[in-house]
Amino acid sequence: MKLITLIFIQILLLNIHGWKIFHRGRENGGNIGAPYDPNYKSNTKFVQEEWFVQRLDHFNPTDLRVWKQRYFTNDQFYKRSSNGPVFLMIGGEGNASPSWMTRGTWIDYAIRFKALCFQLEHRYYGQSHPTEDLSTKNLQYLTSQQALADLAAFIMSKNEQYGFSSNVKWIVFGGSYPGSLAAWMRLKYPHLVHGAMSASGPLLAQVDFQDYYRIVEESLKTSSDQCLAMVKEGTVQVNIFLNHTVGYKALDTMFNLCDPIEKSINNPNDISNFHLTLAENIAGVVQYNNDNRIGGNQKVKNITIASICDIMTDDDVGAPIDKLAAVNSLILNAYNQTCLDYRYDKMIKELSNNTWSAEVSEGGRQWMYQTCTEFGFFQSSSYQPQVFGKNFPVNFYIQQCVDVFGTKYNSKFIDNNVQHTNTFYGALDIDVSNVVFVHGSIDPWHALGITKTREQRAPAIYIEGTAHCANMYPKSDKDLPQLKAAREEIAEHIDTWIRL
Ligand SMILES: *[C@@H]1O[C@H](CO)[C@@H](O)[C@H](O)[C@H]1NC(C)=O
Ligand SMILES: *[C@@H]1O[C@H](CO)[C@@H](O)[C@H](O)[C@H]1NC(C)=O
Ligand SMILES: *[C@@H]1O[C@H](CO)[C@@H](O)[C@H](O)[C@H]1NC(C)=O
Ligand SMILES: *[C@@H]1O[C@H](CO)[C@@H](O)[C@H](O)[C@H]1NC(C)=O
Repeated sequence: MKLITLIFIQILLLNIHGWKIFHRGRENGGNIGAPYDPNYKSNTKFVQEEWFVQRLDHFNPTDLRVWKQRYFTNDQFYKRSSNGPVFLMIGGEGNASPSWMTRGTWIDYAIRFKALCFQLEHRYYGQSHPTEDLSTKNLQYLTSQQALADLAAFIMSKNEQYGFSSNVKWIVFGGSYPGSLAAWMRLKYPHLVHGAMSASGPLLAQVDFQDYYRIVEESLKTSSDQCLAMVKEGTVQVNIFLNHTVGYKALDTMFNLCDPIEKSINNPNDISNFHLTLAENIAGVVQYNNDNRIGGNQKVKNITIASICDIMTDDDVGAPIDKLAAVNSLILNAYNQTCLDYRYDKMIKELSNNTWSAEVSEGGRQWMYQTCTEFGFFQSSSYQPQVFGKNFPVNFYIQQCVDVFGTKYNSKFIDNNVQHTNTFYGALDIDVSNVVFVHGSIDPWHALGITKTREQRAPAIYIEGTAHCANMYPKSDKDLPQLKAAREEIAEHIDTWIRL
């Protein structure tokens, strides 16, 4: 998820920590970012940050190495006397934000059901560092299966610490990749977890995630056909500019490029990266459209499908390529980027940095490793019809796996491992109960999830008009009625599971 991608995922990660805009989305699965919280400082004083001793390798009985995993507790709503449940927010491919401990829909549920709340940061992300560095060899312990085993060990330990009997119900919550983990947790550890709220979770691992940009197009179309047509024409014009020497300088200026495009004109990776970055400018906005997230950063929150399409359909902005450039400026500005960095070698070099002090260690390198070894999810331009052009094929992403992690991480390797992920968890044929799958029609990730109820024991809620993980964010007066209804329906499922 490059520019665009970067945006959606990493609102929190990438921007606060200054990671390049072009990493906003690509290297992240759909990070949900932090909930909007105007009173962040005063709220989080109730939240305790603690560390849990965790095994490095849960699947090798002779490997006794351990490390410290970060977690947060909030017990201010908990009522043991009324047999309150335990809620566990599953951390994902970024920093675990303590603001989730006091904000978001799960906190409304915690108040209602008098729950004890925990959030466990995912291994290798944020401050949970299992190994001394992020070398490819050390990343072997970064897998979803190890992450689930971390969660299981955590639950076992807390059950013992608090003296919980088996009638204390654990409910897990997760959005985006953690949404997948939430469903898989109930699948693999049903004796520890009684129910799961899985928001926007991709359950089908797929190398070529070509539906991603198809849905981005459909979502833009909800604004207007004209908006979509202008994106298409703008992209065609970018290609024409790239074909003529007189166009190079104009592109440098219009798109505020960090390096002159002329030097990259015979470098297909740079050109693909440039195109992808422009596509991600838009996809990033679509994925998070109107989500009530990002503590305080009104600039990013204000950019929506409507505001992008206002620019794309404004005759005063100029030709379609000028409109794309105006969108680009808006995004660069919102993310405090001084110029558009599209150079492939530079990106690979940053992603190859093994140290915890590198910017990519916030999650970019790790998430890329998980995509190259477990999930794929490569948001290619393979689909038809084309609005964003055919300029970032799936091989462009596979090349990145090879260039960052080594020749072994090639197409065949990725195919095999993605297939194994689907075999191991069951993909869309997952056989579970007490899981509610929640998706939004605007969010491109719904293409890889369960959006229709097949059995009442594992219901799906498909919300028309909402984006990535919308139901998890704090409620707002602007919420669509179907979003409000979905939150209430989820509460009723939780209520049922707790009483079971
Ligand atoms: C750019 O030039 C190439 C090679 O000459 C040609 O195949 C392609 O159609 C041109 N693209 C545009 C948008 O003019
Ligand atoms: C965001 O939008 C609101 C309402 O339209 C506006 O008042 C505010 O100035 C905008 N903030 C930024 C940073 O653009
Ligand atoms: C950009 O910089 C401003 C001012 O320093 C800051 O308030 C804002 O949070 C920054 N935005 C991002 C996305 O980092
Ligand atoms: C990795 O990143 C750190 C922190 O930014 C930097 O000091 C170091 O030089 C980088 N290493 C390489 C090999 O680029």
